[in-house]
Amino acid sequence: MSVEETGYPPFPAGETLLARTPDRARPDQGGAAEPLLEVTDLRVQFRRGGRRVNAVNGLSYRLPAGRMLAIIGESGSGKSVSVRALMGLLPETATITGSARFDGSELVGLPEPEMRGRRGADIAMVFQDPTRSLNPTMKIGLQITEAVRAHADMDRNAARDRAIELLQLVKLPVPERRLVEYPHQLSGGMRQRVMIAIALAAEPRLLIADEATTALDVTTQAQIMELLLELQERLGMAVLMISHDLGLAATYAEDVIVMYAGRAVEYAPAGTLFEHVRMPYTQALLGAIPRLDREPHAPMPSTPGQAPDLTALPAGCPFAPRCTSADEQCADEPPFAEHEPGHWWACWHPVRDGA
Ligand SMILES: Nc1ncnc2c1ncn2[C@@H]1O[C@H](COP(=O)(O)OP(=O)(O)OP(=O)(O)O)[C@@H](O)[C@H]1O
Ligand code: SF4
Ligand SMILES: [Mg+2]
Repeated sequence: MSVEETGYPPFPAGETLLARTPDRARPDQGGAAEPLLEVTDLRVQFRRGGRRVNAVNGLSYRLPAGRMLAIIGESGSGKSVSVRALMGLLPETATITGSARFDGSELVGLPEPEMRGRRGADIAMVFQDPTRSLNPTMKIGLQITEAVRAHADMDRNAARDRAIELLQLVKLPVPERRLVEYPHQLSGGMRQRVMIAIALAAEPRLLIADEATTALDVTTQAQIMELLLELQERLGMAVLMISHDLGLAATYAEDVIVMYAGRAVEYAPAGTLFEHVRMPYTQALLGAIPRLDREPHAPMPSTPGQAPDLTALPAGCPFAPRCTSADEQCADEPPFAEHEPGHWWACWHPVRDGA
């Protein structure tokens, strides 16, 4: 099936999926599996000072229930804007076009009251900085019970019991004591667990974690990712994780999208992507050794050259000014297409294995 027919990469084929690290390999849920989230040709443009910022430029992907998809890419590539667009969390200066279907119903253009009903209940989001998301003047217990009662008709005692359950679910020790504490009394890792508990309050089917572990030390980061993985498997949730951390994406996600200048430039099951990188941009992100034997949780290396100006994107491949393989053919935009089973990229001169 070609990109022209569908506009998005299909669910990766079973064989390439099994190339995933053995502990995360699981049977193919089938190309025919209905996606929980289906994003097609998503575009977001901001009006800023008389200019237009093209933040997301035709992003398409599918996320079936119960899977973890990582979106990676350097700062400004449109990762956060693309997920905020799904949640109706962009300012009025944003124009969103394209489609994002959640369980068959359209999110783009959904009026705010309906969107509010879906936020939390169907799709919940955890951000990088829990200190900004939690209310510093409110006890943890009240913040969780408010989230619980916003989605379920429960009295105070039942909501408190549910809050304790949620804190147990996110493995916060002595949950009863935490309920009467304020955010500043908790460590960064504990606060992030509280945020996840709040996000889980309405049992969402999709959890979006936008750099949710970036502010944490490496050990706590791994613990939170393990927790997300366990919750994903136990609750059958889909997880969309956004990260700068390639090691984290390789370790935990089943599928990875690499974004550049607001579009997907490479997409594959994680094992395939890291073992057989094809985009020069992804290779640059991975540094000299595009393999899984990179140091775990190594931060995203900076790539030489400037990220493109989103108010004046060049014609052709947007990576050309920074690409050592660029030639005259790159003045034409390379199509984003499935060149190998389950492996999509947009490049005229893909990297060869071992190069
Ligand atoms: N409200 C806004 N108005 C104008 N431009 C915006 C707005 N919000 C984001 N942008 C621009 O959209 C582009 C994509 O931003 P986005 O936050 O999605 O990047 P990102 O990939 O999440 O980066 P990071 O890794 O730094 O979080 C950036 O150039 C950013 O400046
Ligand atoms: S299309 Fe050309 S410029 Fe773009 S990444 Fe490939 S080789 Fe580089
Ligand atoms: Mg971001």
